[in-house]
Amino acid sequence: MPSTLLQTDQRYMREALSLARQSPVLPYPNPWVGCVIVRNGKVVGRGFHHGAGTPHAEIEALRQAGARARNATLYVNLEPCCHFGRTPPCTDRILQSGIRRVVYAIRDPNPAVEGRGATILKKRGLEVASGVCAAEAAALNEVYLKFRATGLPFVTAKVATSLDGKIATRTGVSKWITDQTARRRARQIRRKHQAVLVGVNTILADDPHLGLRPPGPVEPWRIVLDSRLRIPLRAQVLKSGRCIVATTDSLSSYKAKQLKRIGARVWRFPGRRIPIKRLLKKLARAGIFSVMVEGGSEVLGSFYDLRLIDRIYWFLAPMIIGSEQSRPAFKGRGVSRLEPAARLRNFRIEPVGNGWMIRGNMSRWALDQADNENTL
Ligand SMILES: NC(=O)c1ccc[n+]([C@@H]2O[C@H](COP(=O)([O-])OP(=O)(O)OC[C@H]3O[C@@H](n4cnc5c(N)ncnc54)[C@H](OP(=O)(O)O)[C@@H]3O)[C@@H](O)[C@H]2O)c1
Repeated sequence: MPSTLLQTDQRYMREALSLARQSPVLPYPNPWVGCVIVRNGKVVGRGFHHGAGTPHAEIEALRQAGARARNATLYVNLEPCCHFGRTPPCTDRILQSGIRRVVYAIRDPNPAVEGRGATILKKRGLEVASGVCAAEAAALNEVYLKFRATGLPFVTAKVATSLDGKIATRTGVSKWITDQTARRRARQIRRKHQAVLVGVNTILADDPHLGLRPPGPVEPWRIVLDSRLRIPLRAQVLKSGRCIVATTDSLSSYKAKQLKRIGARVWRFPGRRIPIKRLLKKLARAGIFSVMVEGGSEVLGSFYDLRLIDRIYWFLAPMIIGSEQSRPAFKGRGVSRLEPAARLRNFRIEPVGNGWMIRGNMSRWALDQADNENTL
């Protein structure tokens, strides 16, 4: 491809990407998509996806362009769909509109599309190019791409420790290791997730609310790992009306009934402990595609051992707690050699309040560049 054409394509694809980022709500399970239609060097249509069930970005841009779409180029950050979902196929509308060239960034891994969208357009004589700004486009849709490939939600871990890596003293006190600014920042990150997950010991020790402050239009789900249903009926998380208690099927159902009566959902799993991967799959099937794990150390250890953390936010306070009986950030099995230890990629360290925040990627699904504030 001539370099001037590539540069032009990149310019308009970046515009499509920034439109995609404008989506006012988390459009899960739909991807973030933006579209720009260009004719004779002039943008004649723009669109982005407003959420499940609403017209796709391409349709919005085509409507805006109207007759000016004839012989124009359409830029979109994800391959156009070719199936009937909640809305009709975009490929049909593109073909009807007279668009001559379609440029997309990445292939849609949705089994209903997977390259077929592009094939249909090519077969009908349109010029189709792909791969433009592919890295940026994949980063923008890391949650969607992970879910499509694995059936799992995107998992972010948040830890707040002293300099010696402790999340609580030997008596279990953790309020407060980090300062208000750090805690506010952590709540902003929570705002971007559909669910917050903790172990029952954290509920027993701190009775956290785990909601948004100020309250958001959509509060996150609270997920509690609690094999023996030790959660007190008066726990703050239960007052949210959006609490899922994951437990095992080995116990009498009396407490489960009480929990359900006060509005909690109780999910039972076989075994003595909660099988985390199964729980995550069930969460994704229930429409929860991003989960923030907020501790404590046993739960973080379980997620780490299974290599289920995609991204980590580590708040570090200028404080030393000491003692081998105080709680480390991660329990679990850990690693015996250093080679398999997870190392952060694309990490960034920034001062937050009187401490620091380290943010880094831990799985191949976490794709963003460290300076991209738009992803989780
Ligand atoms: N500084 C921070 O950022 C921070 C954040 C959170 C908590 N904390 C502190 O951490 C302490 C609590 O941490 P913790 O390590 O004792 O407990 P935890 O991780 O909060 O909860 C662990 C419990 O969850 C249940 N569980 C069920 N399935 C599990 C699974 N697959 N993996 C792991 N746990 C599972 C188990 O109890 P059952 O067997 O009864 O189900 C387990 O004992 C508190 O002192 C709290 O203040 C600090």
